[in-house]
Amino acid sequence: MADAPPVTQHPATDAVRHHDPEYRGFASDNYAGAHPEVLAALAVANGGHQIAYGEDDYTAHLQEVVRRHLGPRAEAFPVFNGTGANVVALQAVTERWGAVVCAKSAHINVDECGAPERVGGLKLLTVPTPDGKLTPELLDSEAWGFDDEHRAQPQVVSIAQTTELGTCYTPEEIRALSDRAHEHGMAVHLDGARLANAAATLDLPLSAFTTDAGVDILSFGGTKNGLVFGECVVVLDPERVRAMKHLRKLSMQLASKMRFVSVQFEALLAGDLWLRSARHANAMATRLAEAVRGIEGVTVVRPVQANQVFAVLPREVTERLQKRYRFYVWDEATGEVRWMCCFDTTEADVDAFAAAVAEEMATR
Ligand SMILES: Cc1ncc(COP(=O)(O)O)c(C=O)c1O
Repeated sequence: MADAPPVTQHPATDAVRHHDPEYRGFASDNYAGAHPEVLAALAVANGGHQIAYGEDDYTAHLQEVVRRHLGPRAEAFPVFNGTGANVVALQAVTERWGAVVCAKSAHINVDECGAPERVGGLKLLTVPTPDGKLTPELLDSEAWGFDDEHRAQPQVVSIAQTTELGTCYTPEEIRALSDRAHEHGMAVHLDGARLANAAATLDLPLSAFTTDAGVDILSFGGTKNGLVFGECVVVLDPERVRAMKHLRKLSMQLASKMRFVSVQFEALLAGDLWLRSARHANAMATRLAEAVRGIEGVTVVRPVQANQVFAVLPREVTERLQKRYRFYVWDEATGEVRWMCCFDTTEADVDAFAAAVAEEMATR
């Protein structure tokens, strides 16, 4: 890790800088700061009084911006975080006896502290997958027992785009899954914490693999794409969704000063910031994968389809590298690590990290 940075103070605030703004690791796209254009947008929305709890001018305008991307029926509900977005969205398409079919590796199953179960009161029916992706056949393995009072009723399938394993569904794959879910009378939820990265990979508009592919409700990620914080639940098919505004409040996701979440999304989506940032993060992951592929003893173990690289390398090398750069071991059993690139990862960061991997491998 870098030495402690000098403490600096901006003349306009009593806050002091406690970190090194030049340090960047490969742990998570949540480790990055906010994009300067997003910070500038926050200042634009500041000043004066605006109606609280979403009746402000920024949240109203956000609806138009979101509709440009996701179609005329889309309605955006800004929330604080991704877990909250998922829990609100899933409740809005289920009843008290409802269940959610998802991949075993899904964030809602692995990384949300049981919030869908405890806060949403929902049973998760999980399906093992080789690559984080569900298929109609895999959905069928848990979509049964309809009308059986002994079984929690499968009422929604939840997929992530991109998946937690860095893979990306094609629009056709999502369409096939949506068609099968709808045949079962189930809704389709898409966890789009990295939706922008998927659009960048597919080189398609956001609607191509959401609205037009049969997705009913979306958790639209902003934080990993450069916001200070904030995600949106976007209702795509209002006929399959109910009670959003009540569920958002009940689930503690209603921001009183909502203008500050909405304006950040406007900064992302009104122009091309969302895509520029995602393309850059993806390109950095591709660069990193290419650089480490040439190092003997390092294996990139999954396709690099977005901003993540998954690799296996000797454990002692991982431990030494982690003293220099932050990143996570993804699977303790296999020693698989995850390296994540962000909107602010530079080519120099990637090259220096790849050089560090080579160095540590050479001193085994
Ligand atoms: C696939 C996925 N969904 C949702 C989230 C949102 O999580 P959080 O509640 O930390 O904002 C994340 C964050 O890591 C994620 O990777």
